[in-house]
Amino acid sequence: MKLVLASKNKKKLKEMTDILQHLGVEIVLQSEIGIDIDVEETGTTFAENAFLKAEAVCKAAGMPAIADDSGLVVDALDGRPGVYSARYGGDKCADDIQRYELLLAEMEGKENRSARFVSSICCVFPDGHTVTSEECCEGYITCSPAGENGFGYDPIFGVAGTEVTMAQMTEDEKNLISHRGKAIRAFEEKLRKDGAIC
Ligand code: IMP
Repeated sequence: MKLVLASKNKKKLKEMTDILQHLGVEIVLQSEIGIDIDVEETGTTFAENAFLKAEAVCKAAGMPAIADDSGLVVDALDGRPGVYSARYGGDKCADDIQRYELLLAEMEGKENRSARFVSSICCVFPDGHTVTSEECCEGYITCSPAGENGFGYDPIFGVAGTEVTMAQMTEDEKNLISHRGKAIRAFEEKLRKDGAIC
């Protein structure tokens, strides 16, 4: 089965492909099949945004489309950056480093540093039906960045029960415990139940 990933993020593509390739599921980026749409993420939940992205790309491609909407939820910041994780700080933040530096500044002096990454996956099929999953990975916001791997907020996200950030883990270690790894494996089960794969 071939799925088009409603995203321009090559790291997401790699994480999804690494986990789903053994099922014979091929995932291609929307750009690889000539689709250049930027879907406005107007939803208030990760699940709504994942659906909006997958639905738009499925319509444009005429084939099943999968989208992941994910982000970081920080308890001491009332759930921010949440669905705004990719755009946190607006024009004031030009890249991932500036976004996590802003978050670290907002966390200064906060005692409760608990946080979680959430990943919501939605696959929309041309007949309109959907297969979805959502999982999270618990952790805490560190006081300073550490590690070179991964992307986004990985350098400041300490994994619960460990002393390391997600950016200090290898790709395989991250896939085993990450929100996206868990959501993709749950998604795999749901695809099986749906009959889309054996
Ligand atoms: P999306 O493309 O709208 O789902 O944006 C998700 C944003 O959440 C990314 O741009 C990152 O800032 C953050 N994020 C999601 N998953 C991860 C992860 O695995 N590591 C670090 N940051 C992540």
